[in-house]
Amino acid sequence: MAGPLIAPSILAADFARLADETAAVAGADWLHVDVMDNHFVPNLTLGLPVVESLLKVTDIPMDCHLMIDDPARWAPPYAEAGAYNVTFHAEAADDPVAVARDIRAAGAKAGLSVKPGTPIDPYLEILREFDTLLVMSVEPGFGGQKFIPEVLAKVGIVRRLVDAGELTILVEIDGGINDDTIEAAAEAGVDCFVAGSAVYSAADPAAAVEALRRKAAAASPHLTAG
Ligand code: DX5
Ligand code: ZN
Repeated sequence: MAGPLIAPSILAADFARLADETAAVAGADWLHVDVMDNHFVPNLTLGLPVVESLLKVTDIPMDCHLMIDDPARWAPPYAEAGAYNVTFHAEAADDPVAVARDIRAAGAKAGLSVKPGTPIDPYLEILREFDTLLVMSVEPGFGGQKFIPEVLAKVGIVRRLVDAGELTILVEIDGGINDDTIEAAAEAGVDCFVAGSAVYSAADPAAAVEALRRKAAAASPHLTAG
């Protein structure tokens, strides 16, 4: 058992001050970086050059969330650059297992993400090839949206497999996580909580990370406090 992981999403940060905004959440467990290509999702953010620059200014393990087409081509370079975890979307990959193997071979953890409407059952067999499962709790593309509680059923399915010893994977949730929603996610079995606006709209982002971590730990049957 481990404590909850909190991953602030810099999508909600000031992009002109990314190094400072990263330093403002120095106590975070992972730094969540949303890569969008304006094809897989209707928004455009940043790519490998910005990730490479950010890697030079922080020691926080980087959690790259690729909302892009053709992850087979684009995902492994993020692992080579030094990202801690590289997550791509199930809906975007023809051969997710091959992509996961390439990411792991390049030295990172491999993550699979599913949109709110994508069922998890067809992917359960291949989850052993992954280190993290990112369950989207909003439609990918934008921060500041409302949490979709129905996705917690997918979290529960995977949590039970992990608790039964049939799978070793961290369950991550992304979208609409804040003081009001994090407890339900923790109760459902999430290990890692992405939070963008809840962290960066706070007067003190580091304190917001700590508050979220405490709330998740207190609510969760499978996470330990501290
Ligand atoms: C949305 C991104 C999220 C986003 C979350 O597509 O994947 O990581 O930053 O933002 P909040 O926490 O504001 O919903
Ligand atoms: Zn994300």
